[in-house]
Amino acid sequence: MPINSLKVYGYRSIKNIDLKLHDLNLVVGPNGSGKSNLYRCLQLIWSAANGSLAAAIAKEGGMPSVMWAGARSSNDPARMRFQLEVDDLAYTLECGIIPLSAITEVKGDPWFSTDPDIKLEEVTTVKKDKRVKLLHRKRGLIEARGTDGQPIEFPILGNPFESVLASLRAPHLYPELSRLRQEILDWRFYHHFRTDLASEIRKEQTPVFTPVLSHDGHDLASALASIIATNGGYELNEHLQNAFPGAKLEIDMKPTEVSLLFEMPGLNRPFSARELSDGTLQYLCILAALLTERPPNLMILNEPETSIHPDLFDALAELLMVASKRSQILVTTHARELAGGIVRRGGPKPIELEKKNGETRIVGAKLFSYDQDDDDRN
Ligand SMILES: Nc1ncnc2c1ncn2[C@@H]1O[C@H](COP(=O)(O)OP(=O)(O)OP(=O)(O)O)[C@@H](O)[C@H]1O
Ligand SMILES: [Mg+2]
Repeated sequence: MPINSLKVYGYRSIKNIDLKLHDLNLVVGPNGSGKSNLYRCLQLIWSAANGSLAAAIAKEGGMPSVMWAGARSSNDPARMRFQLEVDDLAYTLECGIIPLSAITEVKGDPWFSTDPDIKLEEVTTVKKDKRVKLLHRKRGLIEARGTDGQPIEFPILGNPFESVLASLRAPHLYPELSRLRQEILDWRFYHHFRTDLASEIRKEQTPVFTPVLSHDGHDLASALASIIATNGGYELNEHLQNAFPGAKLEIDMKPTEVSLLFEMPGLNRPFSARELSDGTLQYLCILAALLTERPPNLMILNEPETSIHPDLFDALAELLMVASKRSQILVTTHARELAGGIVRRGGPKPIELEKKNGETRIVGAKLFSYDQDDDDRN
């Protein structure tokens, strides 16, 4: 199910934004405008559903690092809040700093003081045009109800720094909460395909059927081979030709080794992954990720245009349009030309971010016309 809307409050540079999401969403903005912060906050929601919120926040430096560092009004409590609408379900997760009185002390020293303290967690649905609360958690108190409004008595063991969603032990008693959790856990993230010379992508790989490309793309040869094995690779070849006219992708499959070979017009021999340019490898990873035989509910790509020449943006726009018919897609990018390519194909206008007074804001795509050539704006 697609996400209909996402509200983020108090997370890093995102003091307060409200996004309406479509099947395909391009988030554009200059350096430091908050694109990756948006990507990261979706990862945090995924971590909350997975039971690894505290660890994910620790990786980002702990709660004091991830909370909005700018000014707040005096009656505005220091909170970080995510609100999500998926299909008929709405989810709210609000975290803050652990109060001094509740910090674990060992021999007089505070321990785990930068973990998140979940202040509020709520799931609602719509029944007969009315919002029904399915889960309400305020600090330690947790209350769950069925869609009929009746309380569910089975206990949910909460801990203050992990979500209730991740703590469900009897999912059949909480079908709506479990559905929401599964929806979120299905999201797929791609942030950085490793294309450096030492990258696994460039080496021969042990073949294994791989319907989903790994996050760093290390199993690219197996993932491309799996697409070809499943559907003949005609669509893959079509998109490859859009990007690299006249090129040919071959898979060299041996019982214990798989590698890719890439033929380019004008050259007398195919090149192995070891010899390909960073941008070509990056594009092959994007192809494998987007043409997956197992499309997720939501695929999120952070700045996929890295190393890719603007000449390929039109082919990438076409690819994103096709992939967004199978999965909801959110792409953060610097590349306005990519947004132009989407709009020219009848896709939605991009979500334009800017930073003002340290705060990420949505500009509104109407400031720009994406109908003509965008080169003069860069
Ligand atoms: N706790 C915080 N409070 C306020 N701002 C923060 C906080 N943590 C990080 N930032 C700011 O968030 C800004 C946006 O970072 P982000 O990485 O999302 O930018 P970006 O749009 O992805 O940029 P780039 O194009 O360079 O990748 C940075 O300038 C950083 O200073
Ligand atoms: Mg970034």
